[in-house]
Amino acid sequence: MENTLCPITCWSETRLRTSVMAAFLLGAALLIVQPQIVPSRPAINSKAEASSQSVQRELLTKTSQKNDFKENIHSNGSCRQLPQTIIIGVRKGGTRALLEMLSLHPDIAAAESEVHFFDWEDHYRNGLRWYINQMPFSYPRQITVEKTPAYFTSPKVPERVYNMNQSMRLLLILRDPSERVLSDYTQVFYNHMQKHKPYPSIEQFLIKDGELNVDYKAINRSLYYLHMQNWLKYFPLDRIHIVDGDKLIKDPFPEIEKVERFLKLSPQINASNFYFNKTKGFYCLRDSGRERCLHESKGRAHPQVDTRLLEKLHEYFHEPNKKFFELVGRTFDWHSFVAS
Ligand code: A3P
Repeated sequence: MENTLCPITCWSETRLRTSVMAAFLLGAALLIVQPQIVPSRPAINSKAEASSQSVQRELLTKTSQKNDFKENIHSNGSCRQLPQTIIIGVRKGGTRALLEMLSLHPDIAAAESEVHFFDWEDHYRNGLRWYINQMPFSYPRQITVEKTPAYFTSPKVPERVYNMNQSMRLLLILRDPSERVLSDYTQVFYNHMQKHKPYPSIEQFLIKDGELNVDYKAINRSLYYLHMQNWLKYFPLDRIHIVDGDKLIKDPFPEIEKVERFLKLSPQINASNFYFNKTKGFYCLRDSGRERCLHESKGRAHPQVDTRLLEKLHEYFHEPNKKFFELVGRTFDWHSFVAS
């Protein structure tokens, strides 16, 4: 690893202060000039403005409580930095695979666990100082990444990320919406099994009064255009790179190459970093001769669903998918059943 030292005053400290000040000043500036300067931004109502202002003031206070950031500087010269890129979702899209694969790059420093800073109030209230403490130590040349899949579908998050860093590069990994619903159900099913708690069958969630139960949360999370609209109020499309999660499963390298390009990383990840593991049924990673697959919770078998119910699901997603393709100017090879 290149031994580039963090500046004596940790770069992240300067960056953190700059971000907080920028967020604070931006909030004030938005109050005065927002309609003229950023017409494409949402008309934030006064209540939302006030709350955003108070959150920013709070972030500033909490971040300035101590002048001592020494715990963020390592003796080897590395330090903690705010993330310059975030994997925002989607839940069950392949976010862990994306993070692990991207971490093969020497210039990537990834936070191990999901941070939930922008979507959980008790975390957000802790301020940016808390947030930076969740980040790994890294060298200045490295890009810090965190992934929290719930960000994509959480309405408050885009504005909060924007307030912290307008030039954030966002990574979004999506997968066939119907398949994602089944994966979402499977995850919660296993969570219950582990706690020896019963869990209803998927049909009990998908059907209500003989019809598709569109109130099922897992279905809502797959309405990608709805959530994407929220992000596009704050970030232009060229700041959000969409990874095709279905292609990442079948052939990860080309998708990862695109991510390297988006993040302006030197091309260092190779096809030889991936090999197909027949037992797992998925690609696994090879790094400096070491081979590893993702945890057994990734790549589970989904429940068998009646074909007609599955077709209903495909049919339901047809229009929302079309809207999403129009929104992002790109199509995906997702199931799209239209009754003849
Ligand atoms: P399933 O377990 O339903 O198959 P997330 O990390 O966002 O929770 O996404 C989990 C999904 O990542 C898995 O869903 C799996 O399909 C997908 N995935 C993509 N590449 C994978 C890989 N190389 N190994 C295991 N799972 C992978």
